[in-house]
Amino acid sequence: MLLHIPNILSPEEVATAQSLLVNAPWADGRASAGSQAQAVKNNEQLPHDCEAATQIRALLMRGLDRNPTFFSAALPKHVFTPRVNRYSGASNFYGNHVDNAVRFAPDTGQRVRTDISCTLFLTEPDAYDGGELVVQDSAGPQRVKLPAGSLVLYAGTSVHQVEPVTRGARLACFFWIESMVRSQEQRQLLFDLDTHLLSLRQQHGETPETTGLTGTYHNLLRMWADT
Ligand code: NI
Repeated sequence: MLLHIPNILSPEEVATAQSLLVNAPWADGRASAGSQAQAVKNNEQLPHDCEAATQIRALLMRGLDRNPTFFSAALPKHVFTPRVNRYSGASNFYGNHVDNAVRFAPDTGQRVRTDISCTLFLTEPDAYDGGELVVQDSAGPQRVKLPAGSLVLYAGTSVHQVEPVTRGARLACFFWIESMVRSQEQRQLLFDLDTHLLSLRQQHGETPETTGLTGTYHNLLRMWADT
């Protein structure tokens, strides 16, 4: 699955996030990468506990909470502490890598399995050149560069990279999700069923069939979810 979800943040929230990042304490991004990824990583990140990162994380978590598409697609059990990064100047790319399978939350040490990788774009695409997220999936390389405030979800198992930024700066939040439903195949079936049910309900209202299929959705989720 590779899914774009628009408008996780409103334009006002994006502007707030951008203003928080003007004088933020950027640090070398290699600190949070595994050893293979370190060799190809060249960007900057905010310390997770700085004021700007803390406030942007709160904006993002509120944005995720109010978005039903995000919930339906990810079925989140844990969201690993979102971080903020920047690609610009001489620190402008992250070569091909796969994210570590298990992350340890910085404050609690809680283990999070990275079923789903997420990037929330914080800079409009016309403000920088390059910086595409390129995800290798079964249909070949998928190139992603979204409007500020939009989110992309992709399988944590994917090889991916961020291409060099050759003009301007690319700001983003990145994070991982451990899903209640570990299997990508099962998650995709549930998302498809939920999406079609929503559409049926919009066209026909509630009918005995939509009620029955909603039951099927929940019964599948009950069978597959690990809470
Ligand atoms: Ni990555």
